[in-house]
Amino acid sequence: MENTVTIIDNRTGKQYTFTDTHDTIRAMDLRNIKVAPDDFGMMSYDPAFMNTASCESRITFIDGDKGILRYRGYDIADLAERCSFPQVAYLVIHGELPDAEQEREWLAALRIHMGIFENIKKFMEGFRYDAHPMGMLVSTLAALSTFYPDSRHVRDHETQMHCIRRIIGKIPIIAAYGYRHSKGLDYISPEPKLGYAENFMHMLWDRSPLEHLKHPVLARALDVLFILHIDHEQNCSTNAMRAVGSSEADPFLSIAGAAAALAGPLHGGANEEVLKMLDEIGSIDNIPAFIQGVKEGHHKLMGFGHRVYKNYDPRARIIKRTAEEVFEVTGRNKKIDLAMELERIALADEYFVSRKLYPNVDFYSGIIYEAMGLEAKMFTVLFAIPRAVGWLAQWQELINDPAQKIARPRQIYTGYERRKLPDSYTYGAPSEESLAYTR
Ligand code: ACO
Repeated sequence: MENTVTIIDNRTGKQYTFTDTHDTIRAMDLRNIKVAPDDFGMMSYDPAFMNTASCESRITFIDGDKGILRYRGYDIADLAERCSFPQVAYLVIHGELPDAEQEREWLAALRIHMGIFENIKKFMEGFRYDAHPMGMLVSTLAALSTFYPDSRHVRDHETQMHCIRRIIGKIPIIAAYGYRHSKGLDYISPEPKLGYAENFMHMLWDRSPLEHLKHPVLARALDVLFILHIDHEQNCSTNAMRAVGSSEADPFLSIAGAAAALAGPLHGGANEEVLKMLDEIGSIDNIPAFIQGVKEGHHKLMGFGHRVYKNYDPRARIIKRTAEEVFEVTGRNKKIDLAMELERIALADEYFVSRKLYPNVDFYSGIIYEAMGLEAKMFTVLFAIPRAVGWLAQWQELINDPAQKIARPRQIYTGYERRKLPDSYTYGAPSEESLAYTR
């Protein structure tokens, strides 16, 4: 009886024994619990997937209570300190760190894909001057699908790898062109010989008044920020990637769906909101009144709280350290002092303590980005560039997992029973109201 769970149905007095694997029972087994043979069977109800595992995964491990984050078994702090973004991207995609030869091949493969068709540039020129960079990124990722019809063969391993390399190579270019477009600046072609983050900075700032920001310390800081954002197991956007991908839509369309999910203020859009919040608070003196407003439910403390972390987000700790290195070059962003004081006051307050609300990755990332010359509108795009690696690793895992099928949750229908249509509804005879509307 070890590794089993027994449920007694008090409606019938029957007992059901389920196998427990990884502290989990299969929701489909619940369907055996029936009152009558023609009964549909029992389901589990879990809005927002608070307690439902949708997959087995070997990519990322999080222990939210202990504040642990690991990619493929390696602690995030070690990876951020001792590896480069392309090395960690290789690890997340392939499962192992690259040796010297594998790294050379990986970098060469990414470089080959650092370019986009002229039509894509024209496509991007069609956006309004004030288009949000995330809207441009989402749409352009989807548009790439039309350029690569071969990407539809999602079950073919070579196609999978080809698409993965293409997207990792191209996403910083689309992001940088979106930025240049919004500034009315010409596009800067990638310089593939540069490092991944360095090249991105080159495409943003070459031939602009911010050219001085192409600094090696800032490039390494961006590289570290990219590493921290690569993957975070089954978060909202990754779940979107898997849900869209499960229909066998090609990876460009799937990743557009994932990026769209990331854009929301409760997810990747939070770092943009943190900066707006700090601007609104304005000075340290205003913090107590702001915190009071949070406790009374008038607004949220953006950059705080997490579905999984009920302890300090380990990424926030590393970002705080990286911020100091960035400020050595750029000068101190005054908002860091405001944010640190906000954190200090919140972490001593019963409201936040009892709910286990700690700073998440977004609390400090925007402050660094701002010091590096990037404006709030770009923050979520900066999140999407490295997260593309995680989305793609998760997508490939999904596609190759024989246990997976098209994602299709159940519902509990609570609407009307069958109703009769009113007699006034007769096809071909529009009502007076709808005629009035069209006039
Ligand atoms: N400020 C104030 N109160 C909060 C906050 C916050 N930032 N976050 C959670 N709470 C409160 C809730 O109101 C709730 O209180 P209650 O029990 O009295 O009703 C309690 O803490 C539990 O919060 P939930 O909303 O149930 O937590 P959930 O797991 O659903 O939400 C989320 C997590 C969306 C991240 C939430 O904490 C939030 O909105 N934070 C602010 C936005 C943010 O920073 N998002 C970035 C997340 S990290 C990322 O996506 C990269």
